[in-house]
Amino acid sequence: MEAATRAMDAGSDALPATVRVWDPFVRIFHWSLVALFAFAFLTGDEWDKPHEFAGYVVAGLIGLRVIWGFIGTRHARFSDFVTGPGTVIGYLKDAAGFRARRHLGHNPAGGAMVLALLAAIAVISLTGHMMTTDAYWGVKWVEEVHEAAAFGTLGLIALHVGGVVFASIEHGENLVRAMVTGRKRAS
Ligand code: HEM
Ligand code: HEM
Repeated sequence: MEAATRAMDAGSDALPATVRVWDPFVRIFHWSLVALFAFAFLTGDEWDKPHEFAGYVVAGLIGLRVIWGFIGTRHARFSDFVTGPGTVIGYLKDAAGFRARRHLGHNPAGGAMVLALLAAIAVISLTGHMMTTDAYWGVKWVEEVHEAAAFGTLGLIALHVGGVVFASIEHGENLVRAMVTGRKRAS
């Protein structure tokens, strides 16, 4: 048991109480995706077999994450973090004024980013697979979409990491550590 939890159980207020937010699947999914995406990105131009293998593992991870989004733990579910565009825009305006409400799971902008990343990576994997089939081998637009989606995802990742750093500063917490330990300050 972590020190913070013990402190809470003992009724002490020496350390802030923490709660479980990200389950092990979400955490393993996240950091495997980071490593495999980086590997696939760097091998795309020259190391075909390992590139394709990493890409297929990424596709499998995305598929499992979508299923987990329906049956997983509370904060892993789409219903916990997917909101309409109005809510996302309202949240971003609040964040710009440094007065956005703290969320235990993904905030509305983070939730939209999760969907964008999952969709963009699905497009990369699908077009990557298409390039290996007889029907689409050598077809220019498929290669172009694959490459554009890969570089577009890089842009999304820059925004994603920027958002994580911003929200961490805004709410005085380390969201990256939370994606490692699975725990966040309760309030
Ligand atoms: C070193 C770079 C990265 C850091 C520090 C980072 C950090 C994080 C953090 C802290 C969260 C939780 C956000 C929250 O608290 O609401 C998160 C979620 C997420 N990140 Fe990253 N991330 C990184 C790179 C990436 C990359 C490269 C991808 C995709 C290829 C990615 C995809 C995602 C996805 C899909 C989620 C949602 C997790 C889930 O609900 O399953 N991240 N990331
Ligand atoms: C996260 C997954 C993936 C990423 C980030 C990714 C990224 C890339 C990148 C950056 C390139 C180089 C484009 C260029 O500058 O010419 C590339 C090329 C390529 N990728 Fe992927 N890819 C992924 C998945 C896949 C998958 C699943 C397959 C096939 C099963 C695949 C097959 C290919 C092929 C055949 C090329 C060579 C195309 C050419 O020479 O023009 N990729 N990929």
